[in-house]
Amino acid sequence: GEKETGEVDYVFKIVVAGDSAVGKTQLLGRFAKDQFFFDSKSTIGVEFQTRTLTLHRKRVKAQIWDTAGQERYRAVTSAYYRGALGAMLVYDITKRATFEHVARWVDELRGHADSSIVVMLVGNKADLAAAGQRAVPTEDAVAFAEEQGLFFSEASALSGENVDRAFLRLLEEIF
Ligand code: GTP
Repeated sequence: GEKETGEVDYVFKIVVAGDSAVGKTQLLGRFAKDQFFFDSKSTIGVEFQTRTLTLHRKRVKAQIWDTAGQERYRAVTSAYYRGALGAMLVYDITKRATFEHVARWVDELRGHADSSIVVMLVGNKADLAAAGQRAVPTEDAVAFAEEQGLFFSEASALSGENVDRAFLRLLEEIF
């Protein structure tokens, strides 16, 4: 079972970044609590959630920070990225603009986070592809991720598909 927080071996700070409404908060909720809220509101300021798990026989607490994608709600950037070992960079596979903006988020990460930060690019809302709503081909994201040295996965916070896998991959790489 879960040990007390005092018995955690490592705390890994992870930040979530990406445009507004791509599903950052929902991905985090799915990973931390296996929840999804249909009436999700825009994040104001900074929030974080945690999940403690075992990796290579060590208790690792993932402390995942979430902030608003909307400029006017953004908290102080340097404080947000300080000490982060990993980042989830999220876009919405049904909104091309959110993918086009990923390069800007990469710049922000490179500018404010530690140079050794591990970055996972996540194409969220993969559940909508079946309904013909895909606007970003998987190959485009794969090419961009390779060029920028990012890990990549499509996922769905709604169905839960690939969410744990993406976070676990990130934690593994940080470990
Ligand atoms: P900001 O806080 O404004 O930066 O937004 P955010 O990126 O945190 O987005 P949020 O998690 O609030 O989700 C935005 C909207 O997308 C909500 O209406 C969610 O219900 C919806 N959504 C999030 N993830 C998914 C998903 O995987 N599939 C589908 N179909 N909808 C999703």
